[in-house]
Amino acid sequence: MTKRGFFVSFEGGDGCGKTTQMRLLLERLRADGKDVLETAEPGGTPIGRQIRRILLDSANEALSPRAEMLLYFACRAQNVDEWIRPALAAGRVVVSDRFTDSTLAYQGEGRGLTAGLVRELHGIACQEILPDLTIYLDIDYRTGLSRARARNAGQEGPDESRMESQAEEFHDRVRQGYLALAAAEPKRIRTIDAGQSVEAVAAAIWAEVEPYV
Ligand code: TYD
Repeated sequence: MTKRGFFVSFEGGDGCGKTTQMRLLLERLRADGKDVLETAEPGGTPIGRQIRRILLDSANEALSPRAEMLLYFACRAQNVDEWIRPALAAGRVVVSDRFTDSTLAYQGEGRGLTAGLVRELHGIACQEILPDLTIYLDIDYRTGLSRARARNAGQEGPDESRMESQAEEFHDRVRQGYLALAAAEPKRIRTIDAGQSVEAVAAAIWAEVEPYV
């Protein structure tokens, strides 16, 4: 039997604090001597980063919902084949900033594409690869959005605001989508209140991850 590593993903609406919390978890895992692969969706691999540019460029207003969904999955298929599957086969810990739950929440609930379609594409893009544990950082969408927009306004480099620029109702649906996913799979998807202090959120995340590593 192939030795299998451990796969944890981070999920949440825009501005939920994922980046900070992922960094803290990665530091802790590496300090413990774990062999960790850090990746992200959309992005991760060099090819994925090129797809990310198309997805997040605010000039691409005309991108259709199905084209958007397929690009997110194209990015993920590349990530699974090039990075994630080999890392898990080598027994490494894989930490991903977002995975298919994002597509279920954003394209499924947010855009109104059916969950059945998203899951079917997941099967094609990722085959049997699914996180063992998913940390969902739950935050009121208005608080998250104002954080995300403030961060983007102060950022140099490419414009990555296309998703954040969606209407508030879109982000509200995304959050409802996440809450429904977490209710349906409470064992895999662990919900953490992201409105707490950075330290409290980090401690709650570690309590979830530690038993697995
Ligand atoms: P990300 O880089 O994680 O941005 P943030 O730090 O603001 O959360 O994700 C980029 C955007 O892409 C984000 O708005 C969520 C969206 N997204 C989808 O709509 N579908 C997906 O499948 C993924 C992975 C992300």
